[in-house]
Amino acid sequence: MNQDFETLLLATDENGICTLTVNRPEKLNALNNKVLNELNAAVDSIKDDLKVKAVVITGAGEKAFVAGADIKELSALDPVSGEKVSKRGQDIFQKIEDLTIPVIAAINGYALGGGCELALACHLRIASNNAALGLPEVSLGLIPGYGGTQRLTRAIGKAKALECIMTGRQIKADEAFEIGLVNQVVEGNPVEEAKAMLHKILKQGPVAIKNAILAVKHSGSENGFDTEAKLFGELCGTADFKEGTSAFLEKRKPSFSGK
Ligand code: COA
Repeated sequence: MNQDFETLLLATDENGICTLTVNRPEKLNALNNKVLNELNAAVDSIKDDLKVKAVVITGAGEKAFVAGADIKELSALDPVSGEKVSKRGQDIFQKIEDLTIPVIAAINGYALGGGCELALACHLRIASNNAALGLPEVSLGLIPGYGGTQRLTRAIGKAKALECIMTGRQIKADEAFEIGLVNQVVEGNPVEEAKAMLHKILKQGPVAIKNAILAVKHSGSENGFDTEAKLFGELCGTADFKEGTSAFLEKRKPSFSGK
C-alpha cells in the first residue's frame, strides 16, 4: 500500500493491523468529498493488500472520531444530487462492512451523523469514555443517509433507533455500551484497546474469522441459517480446522496456516 492521502493516515504494523486515521482535525474530521473519495480508495487498497490482516478506523485529534458529513457541502444539495451523495456514501460504507478481515472503530470522541454511520459500518466498536455518538441529521432537516437508518436499527432495535434518530440526541459512551451500540468503553485512547482485541482475534483460525464475519452478516436474512451451514461445512475442509482440532486433542497450541 503505497498511496499517499491528504485527508487520511494509513499505517500497517508488524502484525498486519492497519490503522486508518481520518485526518482533518481542524474540522473534527468531517467527511467531505475528498475524505470520502480517499476512504473509498483506501478501502480498495486494504482489500487488495494480503499483508493487512485487520483494520482499526479512528479520527485525528483529541475531540472527534468523525463529527459527520461536511455540513457545508450538504447545504448545496438538491434532490437529485442528494440521492446520489447518499448512495455513494452507502456504497463506500458497505465496502467497509464487506471486508472479510476484522474492522474495529476506535471512537475517540464525537461520532455524529456520518461519523456514527462510519462506526456502525465497522464490525466492532470500542469507545473512549468521553465519546458521544448520535445521528443528529433531523436537526439539519435531513435523515441519516449513509446507512444509519438501517444499521442503527439492526444494532439497537427499531424503537430505540427511531428514538435516537428522531430526537437526534447524543448518546454518551456509557449509554452506548448499555444499549449494545459499542462493544467496550475504555479510559483514554481506544486505538490500543482495539489493537489488543485484534491480537486475540488474529490468534484464531483466519478462515474461521472470515467465515464468522460472513455468517453474522447474513443474520436476520432469509438464508442466514443456510449460509451458516454452508460456511461451517466449508471450514471442515480446511487445514486450519485439521490443525485446530488436532492441536486440541494433542494438548498443544494450534499453528494456523490460514488455509
Ligand atoms: N461539517 C463541517 N464542519 C464541521 C462539522 C461538520 N459535520 N462538525 C464540526 N465542524 C467544524 C466546525 O464548523 C468548526 O469549524 P470552524 O473552526 O472553521 O468554525 C470546527 O469543525 C470545530 O467545531 P466546533 O463546532 O467549533 O466544535 P465544538 O467543540 O464547539 O462542537 C460538535 C463540537 C461536534 C458538537 C459540533 O461541531 C457539531 O455539532 N458538529 C456537527 C455535528 C452534526 O450535526 N453532524 C451531522 C452531520 S450529517
